[in-house]
Amino acid sequence: MNPEFWQNRWQEKRIGFNQSEASPLLIKHWSELNLPAGSRIFVPLCGKSIDMVWLASQGYDVIGVELVESAVQAFFNEQNIKPTVFQHAENPAITCYQGQLLGQKVELWVADIFALTAENIGIVDAVYDKAALIALPADMRSNYSEQLRKISGNAPQLLITLNYDQSKKDGPPFSINHEQVQQYYGSHYQIAELASEPASIGSMPELTVSEQVWLLSE
Ligand SMILES: C[S@@+](CC[C@H](N)C(=O)[O-])C[C@H]1O[C@@H](n2cnc3c(N)ncnc32)[C@H](O)[C@@H]1O
Repeated sequence: MNPEFWQNRWQEKRIGFNQSEASPLLIKHWSELNLPAGSRIFVPLCGKSIDMVWLASQGYDVIGVELVESAVQAFFNEQNIKPTVFQHAENPAITCYQGQLLGQKVELWVADIFALTAENIGIVDAVYDKAALIALPADMRSNYSEQLRKISGNAPQLLITLNYDQSKKDGPPFSINHEQVQQYYGSHYQIAELASEPASIGSMPELTVSEQVWLLSE
């Protein structure tokens, strides 16, 4: 999945992954992280997810990273926020969009997550991964989980995945099972499955799919 794949998806508006309402699983399970208001939440591969608005509404600052600049611009337009736009002081390859939403600081950075360092990002209190790990093909996932862990400083994570018979459909979204979550995160985190609920994938409504919520903590 190269950058052009995602640039094309956004340009052609093939963004079926984008939801119009905050994830019910996020709303139901976020409190398991036990984070004080004001915590800084890292949202990798954030798109223009409305989940970031929900996080701000709960009193959290948000730092998201997204490859496609038009997705970041769409987020601020849709929230009626005029962002401040600047190049990251230490890494000019990162374009930072920053604004205030519901009294919280929201920073969305246009960057390839693999090009970031922990120093670039600064303090992360927790990670919210929805449709990020499952957006990546198998040969990128170990690098992704390692990079995410490094740049977030092993911050606790709420991870939402989909599980279905991969032989019946090509990703993305890709199917991830319990063993794979263990494979990607088991050596650095305790992994707890918080929920598993029936779900569907828009392009294949007949497919049997479940959606899992995982809490990763040290
Ligand atoms: C399936 S979408 C999910 C977006 C968002 N998490 C959501 O739930 O709506 C995956 C997003 O990751 C972005 N992306 C893919 N590879 C990336 C990378 N290497 N660095 C940063 N963003 C990336 C894509 O442009 C796309 O917007």
